[in-house]
Amino acid sequence: MLKRIKVSPSILAADLTNIETEIKKLADAGADLIHLDVMDGHYVPNLTFGMPVIRSIAQLTDIPLDTHLMVMNPADYLDDLADIGVEYISYHPETVIHNHRFIYAIREKGIRAGWAINPGVSESILDPVISDLDFVLLMSVNPGFSGQKFIPSVYEKIRHVRSMTSSNNGFEIEVDGGVNNENAPELARCGADILVAGAYILGADDYSQRIRSLRDVE
Ligand code: DX5
Ligand code: ZN
Repeated sequence: MLKRIKVSPSILAADLTNIETEIKKLADAGADLIHLDVMDGHYVPNLTFGMPVIRSIAQLTDIPLDTHLMVMNPADYLDDLADIGVEYISYHPETVIHNHRFIYAIREKGIRAGWAINPGVSESILDPVISDLDFVLLMSVNPGFSGQKFIPSVYEKIRHVRSMTSSNNGFEIEVDGGVNNENAPELARCGADILVAGAYILGADDYSQRIRSLRDVE
């Protein structure tokens, strides 16, 4: 019996003209977290939403908010995200010069701090910081868009990160990009704790069935 997987639907794939309805549907469907993809049009070639939209979403739900910052200046968002009350912040470490300083600043706000690692980057870069992080977001697509094809080299990365963190209690491994019912069982077996899914969940009529199909893996 595997541990219970948390599912974090990405609202990037939602009907953003009906965000209140979408959040309620995800809550009714049993989402564990809500994944919020903040893109600035510089770090990635796409632009999504910022603090006012996240603040509005926070007022619609008690589900913990899982913010994924794909921006060049993630530190600029910390005070607002803390004020809004998000539970998770992941950011891409190459966007920050003094990483320990920023990780400590996130954790001092009572927010779980994570590094987002792109598919083309080795997970070995976690070595100097892993004991200071609460989680890692292993990207299984190049960030920027929903609906891309899953890159399977993430399986081996999950196994390696799991072996790096055996003594680090509570450390979570989150996987993001192209996650669906076909790869979820292997992601869970490798040691993933949280699965992000956009198109797979929000592209269906029955969000509940899709969420269960990711979570109830043996
Ligand atoms: C990609 C984002 C993902 C994306 C996932 O840059 O970080 O969170 O929304 O969407 P799917 O599951 O459709 O690949
Ligand atoms: Zn994401």
